[in-house]
Amino acid sequence: MLENVNVFSNVEFTKWAYLEELKIEEKYLIQKYLEKQGKTIEAGTGGGRILIEMQKLGFTSLSGFDCAPEMIEVAQQRAGNNGLSFEVQDATNLPYEDSSFEQAIYLQQIICFIQDDLGRLNAFKEAHRILKKGGYILFSFLCFDCRVKNIG
Ligand SMILES: C[S@@+](CC[C@H](N)C(=O)[O-])C[C@H]1O[C@@H](n2cnc3c(N)ncnc32)[C@H](O)[C@@H]1O
Repeated sequence: MLENVNVFSNVEFTKWAYLEELKIEEKYLIQKYLEKQGKTIEAGTGGGRILIEMQKLGFTSLSGFDCAPEMIEVAQQRAGNNGLSFEVQDATNLPYEDSSFEQAIYLQQIICFIQDDLGRLNAFKEAHRILKKGGYILFSFLCFDCRVKNIG
């Protein structure tokens, strides 16, 4: 696991590795903005929850990456042999060709896990680079005020 994302306690790791189902807001955004046949990449896939659920909704070309090998191991085990693809990669420096994907998912605050400004900037640049022109990316971000007050 990269040093700057080694932020999970055992409890948090288990939560994100084995979480199930889509949240209502995730399902809404995915169904509204993403195409079922579109080539899709998910950043910070954790235990693969979002892609596993998207497959059940009928999405057909799904890949995910995470910088934590332990997460990718869990995602591969959970998905089994069902055509989902998972690999260890760092969002700030991706090996994919320019314009490789038609749509991308950066939900559950993936960008916010990156500790420094340059890393976050590089992750945005990489997300833009690997996306086909006109494609959609779904991002979510932490609410700073909520975090400070420890309510979100
Ligand atoms: C809150 S979990 C979300 C997991 C999954 N997307 C979900 O919603 O169930 C955030 C994930 O982002 C991953 N992550 C953090 N920084 C990353 C980076 N620079 N590149 C790739 N993955 C990263 C973490 O290892 C962790 O698995």
